[in-house]
Amino acid sequence: MTQNLADTTRLTASAATPAGEPRGWWRDAVIYQVYPRSFADANGDGMGDLPGVRSRLPYLRELGVDAVWLSPFYASPQADAGYDVADYRAVDPMFGSLLDADGLIRDAHALGLRIIVDLVPNHSSDQHEWFQRALREGPGSALRERYHFRPGKGETGELPPNDWESIFGGPAWTRTADPDGTPGDWYLHLFAPEQPDFNWDSPAVADEFRSILRFWLDMGVDGFRVDVAHGLVKAPGLPDLGTHDQLKLLGNDVMPFFDQDGVHEIYRAWRKILDEYPGERIAVAEAWTPTVERTANYVRPDELHQAFNFQYLGTAWDAAELRAVIDSSLAAMRPVDAPATWVLSNHDVTRHATRFANPPGGTQLRERGDRELGLRRARAATLLMLALPGSAYLYQGEELGLPDVTDLPDEVRQDPSFFRADGQDGFRDGCRVPLPWSGSTAPYGFGPTTGGPSWLPQPAEWAELSVEAQTGDPTSTLELYRSALAVRRERPELGAGREVEWLPSAPGVLAFRRGSFVCLANTTRQPVAYPTAGRLLLSSGEGVEPGLLAPDSTSWWAV
Ligand code: GLC
Repeated sequence: MTQNLADTTRLTASAATPAGEPRGWWRDAVIYQVYPRSFADANGDGMGDLPGVRSRLPYLRELGVDAVWLSPFYASPQADAGYDVADYRAVDPMFGSLLDADGLIRDAHALGLRIIVDLVPNHSSDQHEWFQRALREGPGSALRERYHFRPGKGETGELPPNDWESIFGGPAWTRTADPDGTPGDWYLHLFAPEQPDFNWDSPAVADEFRSILRFWLDMGVDGFRVDVAHGLVKAPGLPDLGTHDQLKLLGNDVMPFFDQDGVHEIYRAWRKILDEYPGERIAVAEAWTPTVERTANYVRPDELHQAFNFQYLGTAWDAAELRAVIDSSLAAMRPVDAPATWVLSNHDVTRHATRFANPPGGTQLRERGDRELGLRRARAATLLMLALPGSAYLYQGEELGLPDVTDLPDEVRQDPSFFRADGQDGFRDGCRVPLPWSGSTAPYGFGPTTGGPSWLPQPAEWAELSVEAQTGDPTSTLELYRSALAVRRERPELGAGREVEWLPSAPGVLAFRRGSFVCLANTTRQPVAYPTAGRLLLSSGEGVEPGLLAPDSTSWWAV
């Protein structure tokens, strides 16, 4: 699987970060998540690829984002859509080659876009060379130290070593067979059995990841999104949890396998490496922690730069709840001098246009809900998010107002958690359906018309949501995003700083000022009187009347 780049030095030099940018670019950056499987398919095999992403970079430039985060495109058997990596330094042939990655990084930089790649350090694929050798060599192999192999409990070792459950459902342990075929030790996998967890107490693991960081930094990437950043270190002795209600505890408690204090040592070492490189290379933590205060630990000045704000993602479209999470997020980041981040959608949760179309609760929905209501609120929620101080993450397709596809037939689903009982709901495929770019029939410009069907089918009604259909229509969601990002560029006070000045407002309304900018969000289903003043810059709702905030709308004002 290993690919060689003949001349990495040459690539490094010419793929350097855009010059002349102010320091701290990431503090208020708008970062767009590309899910390579579903963004653009250049070779027509029904699966998105790096040449496809590369061909669409001008679209992202025009949209007005600062950086692009790419979900994994590394060599992988795709047991978890690429989050099971077999070779961290190779591009999976399904996505292209290292040369394609190099071209993508260069083109992005030439357009003034930064590139962030996904790093998956909690687990590898079970097809990773280390794991395969560990299995082959059997108990006593030094390679086994790099993962968590343990004898089972019970008379013949027939029971898993502890009571931990996989996030995707079922036990977090799978029993191996010894080289002679007899049942052997068990190995730990917090996710699918095809994703064995690394043992971060092993110096070889730590060394390997420092080397992988350097490999991609040398390729010219501007940063990393760190997958399961809260999971790398497990409590000594791998103690039982003592309950089978694990899913209820997830995200609400520090667990023996999540958010252990030991992870921070790893990030301190990584920060030193990032700082060695010119151009402010960054890392953002995917850390599901119980509180924003614990999230702040990941972004102390000598650790990572940003962490996703999942508390914000999980908040309902409700003024009081939103105000509380905005205040607590800003307060938590202040002592560590990190920017707050904001996010509404990603490849693991129901898109916000569908979440807000349904009663609050849950980020894995099966219900289509009230589409019109959902879209209205999604647009309003986005304008609110983009007016907050800090950095914002967008997920591909939200700029088109895409809903989740809630009626995918079971036989096309690929989310591994769908196939494992009692774990996460397994409905992540619904937010991963390939983008509609143009035309009136599938694949809507996702791939060539002569190509095969897309890996997940696109709904018939997506013709009217395509980039082509929305471009130039001032009422479209795409044009709303473009305008919002243009205003954000013209008025740096939107993302800058770390405070919002709340203005008095009626229940259900959020009103705040940032310098000469005012943001008003009406989260209710009724129009609300508000003494607006100044010049309207942008509104997510239509027919703005003076002194009246439209239902479920956000408007931006210059005062
Ligand atoms: C992260 C990814 C998710 C993946 C999991 C295991 O949560 O975002 O897609 O399934 O890690 O790698």
